[in-house]
Amino acid sequence: MKKTIKWIGIFVGGLIGFLVLVVLSLAVVGGARANKKYNIPIDEISIPTDVEAIKRGEHLAVIFTCTKCHTANLSGEVSFEVAGMVSIPTPNLTAGTGGVGSFYTDSDWVRAIRHGVGHDGRALMIMESNTFYFLSDDDLGALIAYLKSIPPVDNNLSERRIELLGKLMMAVGLFPSPAVEKIDHTSPPPLSPEPGVSVAYGEYLSRTCTECHGINLNGAPFGPPGQEIPTPNLTPGGGLAKWSEDGFFTSMRTGMTPNQRRLSEEMPWKNFSQMTDDELKAIWLYLQSLPARDQGGL
Ligand code: HEC
Ligand code: HEC
Repeated sequence: MKKTIKWIGIFVGGLIGFLVLVVLSLAVVGGARANKKYNIPIDEISIPTDVEAIKRGEHLAVIFTCTKCHTANLSGEVSFEVAGMVSIPTPNLTAGTGGVGSFYTDSDWVRAIRHGVGHDGRALMIMESNTFYFLSDDDLGALIAYLKSIPPVDNNLSERRIELLGKLMMAVGLFPSPAVEKIDHTSPPPLSPEPGVSVAYGEYLSRTCTECHGINLNGAPFGPPGQEIPTPNLTPGGGLAKWSEDGFFTSMRTGMTPNQRRLSEEMPWKNFSQMTDDELKAIWLYLQSLPARDQGGL
């Protein structure tokens, strides 16, 4: 009897020891993933300094939703936080205290926005640089010109933290892979079609919609891991088939759909409301030109 208890004790002790070892090794693997450094060759792009380019950059920062996450004056905030798992502040982009603008070089801007790699060489985990990768050299240059011109705001945010649970999730692949892993960094710099009311320009602008509506714009899982619900299908296979251009404009400008449904602010319609008529028209043309697809992301 005593012997059996002893053996059970040894077995349970061994099992606990083994589990602790597994957890520790997974934490090491997850930590290494989170801290992995990426050395990506950066395209040299020229950054304009004229007022017109800076104005264009300001417009792009709004319609490509930088101001949604980094706040209206781009001084950042604590936003992506799950207790015991991760805390990833959205950085201060200005040149004030705690802002990356105080030490960023032109290549640093390109590395972060186009390639998804932060100033410390680590992957940006939340920001979907894969939807900004398509920005043409001219537009990216204008955006950076604007970012370099914004008034400094002091806002010291904490470093990002990945806790044990976050590391374990990273080790077993429960975290979506970072943008840097989704981008083909060797493809030639993207081109912008001539701005105007065209399907091609609509496609260019709609790349920002793919972040949430999926690469085919027919809807994709959206929300925190484990609680995703699909975003609406924007192709003619979805509800928009019954919308008029007017209804689309009203939805994007006021957040109220033709079905009298108020869109949540997870849909960045407040940013898109700043698009010009021509930009919205181009997007509408492009959405209508898409093949009808079934709802995705279910
Ligand atoms: C969905 C929210 C979101 C959007 C939209 C977004 N960012 Fe970010 N950004 C973040 C977060 C969070 C980080 C911190 C790193 C991370 O993603 O893990 C970050 C990091 C950065 C960095 C890197 C700072 C560093 O530490 O080196 C730059 C630069 C940046 N963003 C610029 C932009 C610009 C410009 C835009 C618009 C084209 C933009 N961001 C859009 C959330 C966002
Ligand atoms: C950050 C994520 C995100 C981005 C980026 C985004 N959307 Fe959305 N969108 C959503 C979510 C979430 C909903 C559902 C909102 C709701 O039902 O409250 C939605 C809903 C919509 C709807 C309403 C559809 C319906 O059937 O009611 C339209 C139209 C729409 N989005 C168009 C766009 C366009 C066009 C773009 C790009 C210019 C875009 N969205 C970019 C998240 C996003």
